[in-house]
Amino acid sequence: MSTADRASGATAAAQAFARLTGHSPEGFWTSPGRVNLVGEHTDYNAGWVLPATMNRSAVVAAGLRADGIVRCASLQVRGVVEMRLEDVHPGGDPGWAAPVLGALWAMRRAGMVVPGIDLVVDSAIPIGAGLASSAALEVATVLAASGLTGVPLAATDVARCCQAGEQAIAGAPTGIMDPLVALAGRRGHAVFLDCRSLEHDLVPFEPERFDGTLLVIDTTVAHDNRSSGYHARREQCAQAAAVLGIPSLRDAALDDVTTGLSGELQRRARHVVTENDRVLRVTELLRAGRLPEIGPLLDLSHASLRDDYEVSCAELDCAVEAARGAGAWGARMTGAGFGGSAIALLPTAKRDAVADSVRMAFAERGHRAPHVFAVTTADGAGRCG
Ligand code: GLA
Repeated sequence: MSTADRASGATAAAQAFARLTGHSPEGFWTSPGRVNLVGEHTDYNAGWVLPATMNRSAVVAAGLRADGIVRCASLQVRGVVEMRLEDVHPGGDPGWAAPVLGALWAMRRAGMVVPGIDLVVDSAIPIGAGLASSAALEVATVLAASGLTGVPLAATDVARCCQAGEQAIAGAPTGIMDPLVALAGRRGHAVFLDCRSLEHDLVPFEPERFDGTLLVIDTTVAHDNRSSGYHARREQCAQAAAVLGIPSLRDAALDDVTTGLSGELQRRARHVVTENDRVLRVTELLRAGRLPEIGPLLDLSHASLRDDYEVSCAELDCAVEAARGAGAWGARMTGAGFGGSAIALLPTAKRDAVADSVRMAFAERGHRAPHVFAVTTADGAGRCG
């Protein structure tokens, strides 16, 4: 979202908040979606990732209540969710509000006093598109609760609450990447994050300075991190690390994988090891001001996710091939896969040609029409009113 979009998101949320509660919100918090440039399925293997926050965000309007009740509404999803915070527990089914309830549940579990809260969400991040819409909601919720109660939290603590809530209440065993980048991201940059130490650095990422554009191709095939595929990949990685006798695949070298593993486990581990290496190489190229040269590494990342990790799908492969065929510097699926979105990095002069060619390829293969849109990098989460 641009500043203007954030303001209109806040206005719409304020109006809905007044309808819900009969009074004005005490404040507004915003948190962006992300595109992951490279480093897929490496976060839960204690590896490296290189995501960037994008100009599509969620805004929440919030106000405290004293009675231990959470009441939330969304401008995108029907139905007001109202629940006593003490009744939120793993294994329940809180529906669309799971990110909100999970984040608050995790704050309480970490010993923070969270009284009741009224909250209205307005989000411009497509749901189920692999662009971290849930994490944006979680981060905005935790910032709102900590802002309203006056208990400041370090970014890593905010991210840990979001992850814990997502795992326990939403039932998605996700890694730390999405909430942490939502907090750490900055306009004009990607975030190089070490998912073991949680140390992170900003890396220049401004395609516009190279007459370039970053395109998102949302296949509209809904992906869900609660799916068995995501669980299974996590378990296979843990199993592969156990066979190799190492704490996590971050510690594996390609030789270990080739000699110590076979079959499916070998392919899963090979993806993680080669992907970690691609993150380091892409980061180096960006730091050296050689942005268009990252293209082939994005292509390799996609091939590895498709062939070794097996989390792509026909629509994602179609998007990537068509974008590359029409002149993109590089393209890959982004996020967990099994649907969701691809990204393509390309010369701005080829933007329309690439978008048209992707749409045509989808039509020819009988896939539902994708949503194709350009994104720019944006600042991370914070109070916006
Ligand atoms: C989802 C999860 C992240 C990460 C990616 C895959 O977005 O939320 O933690 O595992 O999938 O890289």
